[in-house]
Amino acid sequence: MNIKQIEEKYFMRTYKRVNLVVKKAKGQFLWDENGKKYLDFFAGISVCNVGHCNDSVIKAAKEQLDSFAHISNLYYVPSQIKLGEELTKRIFPDGRVFFSNSGAEANECAIKLARKWGFLNSSENRNNKYEIICFRNSFHGRTLATLSATGQEKFHKFFRPLQEKFVFAEINDIESVKKFVSERTVAIMIEPIQGEGGLIPSEKMFLKELRTLCDKNDLLLIFDEIQCGMGRTGKFCAFENYDVRPDIVTLAKSLANGLPLGAVVASKKCAEIFVYGDHGSTFGGNPVSCAAALEVLNILNSRFLNDSLEVAKYLFLKLEDLKEKYSIIKDIRGFGLMLGVDLTINGSNIVDYCLDKGLIINCIHDTVLRLLPPLIITKSDVDFATRILDEALGYSSAAK
Ligand SMILES: Cc1ncc(COP(=O)(O)O)c(C=O)c1O
Repeated sequence: MNIKQIEEKYFMRTYKRVNLVVKKAKGQFLWDENGKKYLDFFAGISVCNVGHCNDSVIKAAKEQLDSFAHISNLYYVPSQIKLGEELTKRIFPDGRVFFSNSGAEANECAIKLARKWGFLNSSENRNNKYEIICFRNSFHGRTLATLSATGQEKFHKFFRPLQEKFVFAEINDIESVKKFVSERTVAIMIEPIQGEGGLIPSEKMFLKELRTLCDKNDLLLIFDEIQCGMGRTGKFCAFENYDVRPDIVTLAKSLANGLPLGAVVASKKCAEIFVYGDHGSTFGGNPVSCAAALEVLNILNSRFLNDSLEVAKYLFLKLEDLKEKYSIIKDIRGFGLMLGVDLTINGSNIVDYCLDKGLIINCIHDTVLRLLPPLIITKSDVDFATRILDEALGYSSAAK
């Protein structure tokens, strides 16, 4: 059996795999088993932000692997502790961090933090504040609590009863949020730019209003930066574009550029909520992942981020040109190198055409092409990608 047949026979049918067997990856490129080269405009869903097989990230991970792969969080792990310091200093210099393995686990931890905040701040009953306001179209993960916090019915359908108590407001509609605020509310949880939901950015005023609402009602503001953070928008965290500071930030995906790692960084206000025994993880903050992540932080300096933002602007303009040319493009939206091309038609043929021509993109909600390239792409990569997209859109428009 070949690799595809083995997958077909033995794997639970949870993934719809693209017809591509990757043999090697470097920088912004992939090669398949036949040696065909692809330009990667997806980065493993916003994971390999500093490029596949980045030399210094690999060196750091290998060095750590040569020393030890795992000890346990019962002991001091130098790479993890250095990363904790660096990451916390970047986000909340007087805050604290907890490391997990994945995005869903980071959000679980944030939800638990909010629950305990509610417990500590509730009146006599001591457990009557637990409600978290989330948003329609959001995505926060696949564990039961993060699934329950996800505002998309298609993910809930078979898995009821869901965790209590998450309610769903509309992004960019402050009145819809205010309606849900009650004495039971503990937090508001939002992706500053919705990823899986269709590349929908929050408006600046809206995030500011959320901050004010939280301050007024003593609620925690949680930003899920798992997809939009780590430099994707030209800033280390997407919220830096908004002039709004949350109380808790969750990160994962590209934190270790392809090795599993998640983090919750809490501001001073809620940094002391957890005490010994409240939370933990065997693998969370794995030494190898943390060594890699330290190197990722080194790479993501302001010069690197500014360069990637320049290329992002160039890509946005090129996409705007395509929008002028093809009426099947309804909207171009997003931030930095997190862009969506919203179509009036199903985008799957466009994704297939691009793959055939050596460009990897993705499509969500049937009609939104999602572009999440590594942050190291160049203007000539943008020229290549938009030329292929131009052809694909041309064929699709003609076939319409
Ligand atoms: C915004 C956001 N939050 C959470 C998650 C869940 O992360 P993970 O798949 O690492 O559990 C994702 C994954 O796509 C995400 O995009």
